Amino acid sequence: MNRRKKTGGGIGVEQELESVKLMKAFVQQTAAKHASTQGGLLPCLHEIQAELGFIPNDCLDSVATAFSLSTAEVHGVVSFYHDFRTSPSAQHCIQICCAEACQASGSRELEVGAADVLGVEFDQKHPTGDYRLERVYCLGNCACGPSIRIDDEVYGRIDLAGLPQLVNEAMQS
Ligand code: FES
Repeated sequence: MNRRKKTGGGIGVEQELESVKLMKAFVQQTAAKHASTQGGLLPCLHEIQAELGFIPNDCLDSVATAFSLSTAEVHGVVSFYHDFRTSPSAQHCIQICCAEACQASGSRELEVGAADVLGVEFDQKHPTGDYRLERVYCLGNCACGPSIRIDDEVYGRIDLAGLPQLVNEAMQS
């Protein structure tokens, strides 16, 4: 009986290793495909994120090698563009607008307090795995700031006190 349990656990680990191997192979192939094209780094990163849902940190070195860059340089590009994620997405995504017009109408308080009231850091998944918190720079709703987006829905004039209830309602709808 113990033996069966061991075998079952082993298969899980093997599958996980296999999927990591496949992921790394995909990143290497994608990087090799784009490396010979001028300006190929951004299309390469977009393709990786489109396929995997994020750009794994431990694959940045393969991208760097293909483009003859340092890992730090590739990391710099990934972190510069807010659309790139280095960890998996969650079922729901909450984005706080941190661009100027929203800042002028009070989004700074939201940005500073959101992690505390929602129990999750920016660019991380909530411990339940239900949602992820992100910064975004303009949602096209500047006149009604502070603005946030929950999945595809944009909400205006949001304050920190009302944020948890709005998020709860959105998660249940
Ligand atoms: S600046 Fe926030 S919606 Fe445009």
